[in-house]
Amino acid sequence: MGMCFLRGWKGVLGRKLFVFATILFAASIVYFYIDIPLKLNTGVTEEGPTYNDIYTYDETTTIENKPVQRFDKPFNKSSNDVIVFVHIQKTAGTTFEKFLVRYQQSLPCKCQAHKKRCNCGRNASNETWLFSRYSTGWVCGLHADFTELVVNSCVERVLDKQAGHKKKRNYFYTTFLRNPTDRFISEFRHVQRGATWISSKHVCDGRPASVNDLPTCFDPRIGWEGVSLEEFISCPYNLAFNRQTRMLSNLSLVGCYEHLRKPSYEQDKIMMDSAKMNLRNMAFFGIKERMDDSQFYFENTFDMKFSRKMSVWGKSKSNDTVLTESQLAYIQNVNKLDWELYEYAVKLFDERVSLLRQKQRMRG
Ligand SMILES: *[C@@H]1O[C@H](CO)[C@@H](O)[C@H](O)[C@H]1NC(C)=O
Ligand SMILES: *[C@@H]1O[C@H](CO)[C@@H](O)[C@H](O)[C@H]1NC(C)=O
Ligand SMILES: *[C@@H]1O[C@H](CO)[C@@H](O)[C@H](O)[C@H]1NC(C)=O
Ligand SMILES: *[C@@H]1O[C@H](CO)[C@@H](O)[C@H](O)[C@H]1NC(C)=O
Ligand SMILES: *[C@@H]1O[C@H](CO)[C@@H](O)[C@H](O)[C@H]1NC(C)=O
Repeated sequence: MGMCFLRGWKGVLGRKLFVFATILFAASIVYFYIDIPLKLNTGVTEEGPTYNDIYTYDETTTIENKPVQRFDKPFNKSSNDVIVFVHIQKTAGTTFEKFLVRYQQSLPCKCQAHKKRCNCGRNASNETWLFSRYSTGWVCGLHADFTELVVNSCVERVLDKQAGHKKKRNYFYTTFLRNPTDRFISEFRHVQRGATWISSKHVCDGRPASVNDLPTCFDPRIGWEGVSLEEFISCPYNLAFNRQTRMLSNLSLVGCYEHLRKPSYEQDKIMMDSAKMNLRNMAFFGIKERMDDSQFYFENTFDMKFSRKMSVWGKSKSNDTVLTESQLAYIQNVNKLDWELYEYAVKLFDERVSLLRQKQRMRG
């Protein structure tokens, strides 16, 4: 079996893994010091973007010419518009999802006490306007990523099935991002407490990833609870590395999970490009470090108001993981793609928020 059980480091498998990890480590050091800039055209003009620039795809900037979705029109509550949330682990996604179903009055969901999920069906058709954990549930798999939801058309398939027939809808994709180092540490601590997300399917190219495609870092029968940081960061198949970039990119472009076995600069660049394009095509994305602005951005994009402040609700638990300088540098380095995506995202976020503020001032 192609699994790497880090708990039992012995044998040929352990040595092979060690060699692999060493090579990966050496490669990442080289990568770090050469510091190949993955700078791409950001698609934003000097004057700043116009409303359409933001919501439409600029074809000079990316490798792919097909926009995921154009947003010529605002979200229409009574039409076939659906908000889809791409929930990346440890990014405040749960807070946002709770707010969508519980503290939002413009298009209220019907929630019952002691029930996790709410009914966000439209009055007339009872068809949902929200695809998320607390409305539809994890119908496309636990923490399904962009590749599963969009590239493999899971959202469309599920909603067609619920409606009983094929139907044209406008999908408004949304997500949340977070400072990659903080997110990584938060994921580590969550795994240490016992989470594994082992039931995620990682569908790509029409099929779930096999153990061969995607070896686990731990014995699935035992889990990874209590893992040390050293162990956590030395498994090359750890999906926590650059999770945000991977979960937002079209993995069909890079042979699905091949990059975990054979890291390559070319594939990183394609993945990066794809994640940025998909992010640009999102109707909304929040930034965990900027909760108030995220709330403003969401409310004004969808014309929905929350009755509470996300920034008050979404405070994360105290961080008591003490890291050395070199551990921090290592973590930053193995999340290099996420750092590039995050810096890009914050810039784009600032532009979108200031544009919305301008529009709000103009309306008076
Ligand atoms: C929203 O969709 C409904 C039904 O398709 C339509 O009647 C209405 O005019 C639309 N509203 C706007 C603002 O486009
Ligand atoms: C649906 O019906 C409820 C109660 O009848 C009403 O409060 C709500 O505003 C309606 N929602 C929409 C989107 O029409
Ligand atoms: C509306 O759909 C939900 C599931 O999304 C279901 O539980 C509920 O019974 C439906 N209501 C009606 C009136 O069909
Ligand atoms: C993803 O990439 C594949 C392979 O190039 C392409 O056929 C497909 O259209 C892409 N899908 C999306 C949603 O970008
Ligand atoms: C918690 O995290 C913040 C930001 O990442 C950092 O500045 C602070 O020193 C950390 N606190 C502890 C106790 O590790």
